[in-house]
Amino acid sequence: MNQNKDLKIVNMPRIGDKAPNFRALTTQGDIHFPDDYRGRWVIFFSHPADFTPVCTSEFMTFAKMENQFNKVNCDLVGLSVDNLHSHITWLKTIKEKIEFKGMKNIEVQFPLIEDTKMHVANKYGMVQPDEDSTKAVRAVFFIDPHGIIRAITYYPLSLGRNLDEIHRVLVALQTADKFSVATPADWKPGDEVIIPPIDSHNAAKNKIEKTDETSYDWFFRTKKLEEI
Ligand code: BEZ
Repeated sequence: MNQNKDLKIVNMPRIGDKAPNFRALTTQGDIHFPDDYRGRWVIFFSHPADFTPVCTSEFMTFAKMENQFNKVNCDLVGLSVDNLHSHITWLKTIKEKIEFKGMKNIEVQFPLIEDTKMHVANKYGMVQPDEDSTKAVRAVFFIDPHGIIRAITYYPLSLGRNLDEIHRVLVALQTADKFSVATPADWKPGDEVIIPPIDSHNAAKNKIEKTDETSYDWFFRTKKLEEI
């Protein structure tokens, strides 16, 4: 007997996959994704709908932090299933009318994709029908300079994302790549990173004593990085 007869299996991109490619119209012109972003990181995110409050708060915060993402070689690309006219009118309203948490006159300069036929949203598993079959959920894909998906988050419609966390995840991925290290719980740039276990044979042989390292046990060692 199939106990999982109600289980729906849907193909969605996973960590380590190549980012599915597409061509799309955006508020900043046509894009070929991910080819136009080779050599740069991309935060590719979906939101449920224009002219909704949670999405407005997220877009204002993304736009306010865009420079911080650009500084670490990362571009932002948004998507919803609304059309270009709706996107443009909504972003104009945000700039001209909305003041929220000290943010005002906020201009969204990164591309916002129109995806009325949900072609792109479906390729990326952004429409999750038991949440809402007519809108994308709040997905975030962290895509590296080679076009590989490195991390993914999905939030439901009601939950606004934490932009500091998205930035932290990006910098943690970049740090892991650059220094071949891992990052512990709640890591922030400047904190110690995790380094591989001691090779006890070689450590004893070479009598290596590293003062910039902390050893909690043989399997758990951290180290301060010189630069981030
Ligand atoms: C919002 O962004 O406020 C929102 C969008 C879709 C459903 C619920 C909330």
